[in-house]
Amino acid sequence: MRIHCKLLASLLCLGGILVLYLFLGNAEDPPARGTPKPHDLAPTGHGRALPLTPGHFKPVREHQPQKDPSLKKKKRRRGEIKANWPSVRDQELKKRPPIAEEWMHLAVVTCGDRLEETVTMLKSAILFSRKCIKFHIFAEDSLKPEFERKFKEWPSAASRKYQYKIYPITFSVGNAEEWKKLFKPCAAQRLFLSMILKDVDSLLYVDTDVLFLRPLDDIWAFLHQFNDTQLAAMAPEHEIPKIGWYSRFARHPFYGTTGLNSGVMLMNLTRIRMTQFKNNMIPAGLTWEEMLHPLYQKYKNYITWGDQDLLNIIFYFNPENLYVFPCQWNYRPDHCMYGSNCKTAEDEGVSILHGNRGVYHDDKQPAFKAFYEVIRDYPFDGNLYQSMYYPLQTKFLESVHTLCGRIPQVFLKQIEKTMKKLYERRVIVHAGPHSQD
Ligand SMILES: *[C@@H]1O[C@H](CO)[C@@H](O)[C@H](O)[C@H]1NC(C)=O
Ligand SMILES: *[C@@H]1O[C@H](CO)[C@@H](O)[C@H](O)[C@H]1NC(C)=O
Repeated sequence: MRIHCKLLASLLCLGGILVLYLFLGNAEDPPARGTPKPHDLAPTGHGRALPLTPGHFKPVREHQPQKDPSLKKKKRRRGEIKANWPSVRDQELKKRPPIAEEWMHLAVVTCGDRLEETVTMLKSAILFSRKCIKFHIFAEDSLKPEFERKFKEWPSAASRKYQYKIYPITFSVGNAEEWKKLFKPCAAQRLFLSMILKDVDSLLYVDTDVLFLRPLDDIWAFLHQFNDTQLAAMAPEHEIPKIGWYSRFARHPFYGTTGLNSGVMLMNLTRIRMTQFKNNMIPAGLTWEEMLHPLYQKYKNYITWGDQDLLNIIFYFNPENLYVFPCQWNYRPDHCMYGSNCKTAEDEGVSILHGNRGVYHDDKQPAFKAFYEVIRDYPFDGNLYQSMYYPLQTKFLESVHTLCGRIPQVFLKQIEKTMKKLYERRVIVHAGPHSQD
């Protein structure tokens, strides 16, 4: 009972702040009569409906924009935009380079019945991201028409944020049937991305059961933090060696003390193609392509999790090539089902949710399932607070009987921030450059 009350209180508190945004964001309804409009917040544009669809945003440049004197002037004149809100260089918007230069690349491999899951993941990527995204979807042939149909259902405003290409499952080295059997059908495909996507410089690979709770731009930014030898980034498989899988059971070398989870993997493909990797087969280095098949042959009787194990072996021998990002970028049931153990998520909230163990489709971890269902069912042109955040809070409250459900601040902090920023961007874009046209 105690815990229910605490949760309710903290959620109500969050909710209270958000009601403010709801009033402003809910353009379909006329402003509530008699409710004084807080004068330091911008109104919803010019009485036009402003559903929170991504197409309504001009993608904004990365990183903290500098203060723009012209925007300040506008603020003062209109007295609309709260002074300490992040500002957008509206001049920058006009002279920014063509969007094509700013594509981010997202790859996923889908087989079997993972179509809905994949589409929900892609949806979360474009809902919150700033720059445009190219989707590289590797799928069984039978899924291709299904994907095409789903994308057609998305509103045109959303289509401006992405392009997609669907590829067949192919394996360029070794025995294709053998690769397909490794772990799950298709899973080994991602080991071949650097060879297939020859003209892509960098790429984020994610499993189908991943959901973005903040702009993809933010994880993309890690690419620029790589030092001269780093060419891929992943999060640890576990935070606590005592209960981690690799530290207890692995019969092969693995990275660090707990191994790596490969469900969210950022790669500089250019570097992967250029690098000679150390290994324990021959003294000289091997390229990625040369190394894969012999490595698989050597370890195939010792590996359990397929491609992820191979990646762990590769980075065991080549630790200087790996950038490790914190667990909030690949947050799994393991981080809360035995008690909260992902420190960075406690501080900053979950940035990328990874519902492995099939938790979106059973009732074992309702905290994870809540996110999946709410994002899946969100109508693109809905109001983010009304059609996403509130249902999410409500569903989340139903999960307090689980250990994961007892830490709403961990799960909800980042997505709440994301929505606030999205809302601000929308207000500024509408109240700013557009009103000048
Ligand atoms: C990837 O690495 C190559 C070679 O070092 C570099 O030229 C390129 O800028 C890198 N890409 C990104 C996005 O950092
Ligand atoms: C890059 O960082 C990794 C991991 O911290 C380290 O092992 C490697 O030596 C660094 N490379 C360079 C060139 O500093």
